[in-house]
Amino acid sequence: SAPSAQNGLLAGRRVVVTAGGTREPLDPVRYLGNRSSGKQGVALAAAAAAAGAQVHLIAGIMEVAAPEGAAGITVERVETAEELHNAVASAGDEADLLLMAAAVADFRPADYTEAKIKKTEDGVDPVIHLQRNPDILSATVRRRAERGTGPTVIVGFAAETGDAANDPLDLAQAKLLRKGCELLVLNRVGEGLVFGQDDTEIHILASFGVQGLLGEADPLHVTGSKQEAARAVVERAGELLSRQAR
Ligand code: CTP
Ligand code: CA
Repeated sequence: SAPSAQNGLLAGRRVVVTAGGTREPLDPVRYLGNRSSGKQGVALAAAAAAAGAQVHLIAGIMEVAAPEGAAGITVERVETAEELHNAVASAGDEADLLLMAAAVADFRPADYTEAKIKKTEDGVDPVIHLQRNPDILSATVRRRAERGTGPTVIVGFAAETGDAANDPLDLAQAKLLRKGCELLVLNRVGEGLVFGQDDTEIHILASFGVQGLLGEADPLHVTGSKQEAARAVVERAGELLSRQAR
């Protein structure tokens, strides 16, 4: 790829990127999943590698191909939220930066059935009980606070539609506070926006604790291709990393 102004911003840094959606098995042939093309995560991995980082991409279920064999990127495939959680926990300790772009299923079927679930003639249809998945992002922030290990900069991602009572930016601000990460990237979704599309509009919000370390106004508003958005996120995170001694 062509050299860019940010070349080298992440030189020598280890970056973990999560991408795609998770798939939670119900029986051997069925699962609960969520929509995620994986485009944003793959674009982030490419942008971080282009900025000189050693990138570990933890990829869930994606529509796009994983960048196997791309320079500076190693790929690990996972399926469930639990597998993703374990992968982030082991790769995260060595990382300078975590870009948590994966769409994690919030719930999984509480019981996995070893045999395929069959229709019965008694007229009673099955009820699927759900159980919460771990919040990987929050757990990573908590682990870092407790043990002093883990990524120096943690970036969360949120897709919000907003509703009659809530502006997406307000929802994102509340989510940033709740998660405890340094940056949160807001994707506005709805009416054919973002999911699987190539063009995107993001806001990059900074936590109160790191706002003073960043040059430009907060939140940072970026429109363009997913590649351009990814470059902006990598630049913002890299800027923060270079200003944050730890
Ligand atoms: N995330 C995570 N683990 C989960 C759910 C979400 O690590 N079990 C991460 C996502 O990868 C993303 C961020 O948290 O970086 C925000 O995801 P989102 O689904 O918007 O947050 P939730 O807390 O699940 O809120 P909501 O109820 O709006 O889905
Ligand atoms: Ca969620």
